[in-house]
Amino acid sequence: MEKKEQLYEGKAKKVFATEDPQLLIVSYKDDATAFNGLKKGTISGKGVINNRMSNYLMSLLEKDGVPTHFVEELSERETLVKKVSIVPLEVIVRNIAAGSFAKRYGLEEGRAFAQPSVEFSYKNDALGDPLMADSHVFALGLASQEELAIIKTYALKVNAFLKSFWDERGVTLVDFKLEFGRLADGTIVLADEISPDTCRLWDKATGEKLDKDRFRRDLGGVEEAYEEIMRRLKA
Ligand code: TMP
Repeated sequence: MEKKEQLYEGKAKKVFATEDPQLLIVSYKDDATAFNGLKKGTISGKGVINNRMSNYLMSLLEKDGVPTHFVEELSERETLVKKVSIVPLEVIVRNIAAGSFAKRYGLEEGRAFAQPSVEFSYKNDALGDPLMADSHVFALGLASQEELAIIKTYALKVNAFLKSFWDERGVTLVDFKLEFGRLADGTIVLADEISPDTCRLWDKATGEKLDKDRFRRDLGGVEEAYEEIMRRLKA
């Protein structure tokens, strides 16, 4: 499949058209941002790791009954995906208090929940991706009740799968962000990426952070953490 014109450049990926109107090519960059683009940097090799990890996890999730946009890995940074119209929600699943949840409720990071939490943020950089109630999703017509129910079911299914996947590899899945899209016929599928950019992953034995928080919080060893989590993926 040939890459045609660039349609879009995001913070971490570029999107290209192909000769098939239903298929796109995404190209993963090493660019990293945090705090809604306020902090900028480069994580050398990140694009390759995120591309490979996301594709590997999405192909396993497909087999587990979660439809995704993934079609075929074309090269170390490029992947053929189904064209979707993105539902403008960041779907965040949490197993352990961290990040904005810990801050909002005045908690130390690390408290495990009795059951996973699913929350939505409105995907809107200008507004800083504000947290959103289900009724607000419906009020703004961002998704139907049926679609949101499907999204929640898939999000919890992804969580159950990834939690045990990472646990077997000595890694605690703390939380993660998903995005969903609609195919031309309206089918909801998992889109965007699943990577150390979009998940909190802690070493089970040491608690060491093996994700983008090393970049967000200036903890050092960013590239090494991405390489280590990639090694664990295939372990
Ligand atoms: P949070 O605790 O900052 O709300 O983040 C929850 C999870 O979502 C965490 O795994 C990081 C991920 N995330 C993104 O992928 N993109 C974002 O823009 C933000 C804010 C978080």
